[in-house]
Amino acid sequence: MLIRTDRNGYHHPVASEITPQAVYEDRRRMLQWMATGAAGAALASWAGREAFAQTARPGKLAALPGAKSGVAGATTMEKVTDYKDATTYNNFYEFGTDKADPAQNAHTLKPSPWTVEVEGLVKKPGKYTLEDLLKLSAQEERIYRLRCVEGWSMVIPWVGYSLANLVNKVEPMGNARYIEFLSLADPKTMPFVGSRVLDWPYAEGLRMDEAMNPLTLLTFGMYGEVLPNQNGAPVRLVVPWKYGFKSGKSIVKIRFVEKEPRTAWNKAAANEYGFYSNVNPNVDHPRWSQASERRIGEDGLFTKKRKTLMFNGYEAQVGQMYAGMDLKKNY
Ligand code: MTE
Repeated sequence: MLIRTDRNGYHHPVASEITPQAVYEDRRRMLQWMATGAAGAALASWAGREAFAQTARPGKLAALPGAKSGVAGATTMEKVTDYKDATTYNNFYEFGTDKADPAQNAHTLKPSPWTVEVEGLVKKPGKYTLEDLLKLSAQEERIYRLRCVEGWSMVIPWVGYSLANLVNKVEPMGNARYIEFLSLADPKTMPFVGSRVLDWPYAEGLRMDEAMNPLTLLTFGMYGEVLPNQNGAPVRLVVPWKYGFKSGKSIVKIRFVEKEPRTAWNKAAANEYGFYSNVNPNVDHPRWSQASERRIGEDGLFTKKRKTLMFNGYEAQVGQMYAGMDLKKNY
């Protein structure tokens, strides 16, 4: 990945920074949990229904509320990143390589009409319109940490449903072992498609059990509204235990395959970006440490960095899938 050192350039934390921060975070999370639990219960009984948006809408785009998710681990109690930060500090190389480029350039993307083609080793291949996909399952709100391989992280309330719902509907064949996700690559609306920074279309992939893990979210919205273009409208993936680049944006093709698919970043630099790309503080990127991260919005001059957690904190939910695997080799 093209790494530019920004004004908050990477630095290593010293050991003494880490423990007090973790203790403080635990206490704060507990207080937030109590507050959220109480507020949630009150709101649910007041509204007299199960579904309610947990996040205040920014009021910029069409509403897309999600019911509180029942999936284990789907909602972190950490402070949600400001909408402004989440929508102006982006990686979407089809629109430029600077963090500010997608917000500036992605207005040309046309998220409607949209179709996603499902092909390969499935009994029910076909073209699914966005409306078909939206109706396939109830929308849930999931508050996930997103850890970018570059050393920063955010906490975002996404709206969508488990990808497993779609996988089950299209009925994979027995030899379908992986799923490939291809993003739109339209040079007319995406000014950087055609640049040589990546091999387009942006391609990502998951092993079948990873795709079926309930945490893997087929995502249509954030902050109670449809996805802004720069965040991957109208449909993207969010895989919270993997580095952010595994979460392909503006997906147009979902292909079921037998062999591990090549991915855009793996093709660009195989020694830096492997297929799995699970968040792992113990495996450094060849050019920098992955032991800690900077939470966007907490970037004051004296703000301490956070310790990066194994599988981005989702180890209880996903660790078992990698039992017995050498995670240094399968990075
Ligand atoms: N998807 C496409 N199509 N193109 C991209 O450049 N960047 C990835 C991922 N998905 C990318 C992409 C990277 S590096 C990250 S960190 C996340 O999107 C960022 O998602 P966000 O901008 O919504 O936070």
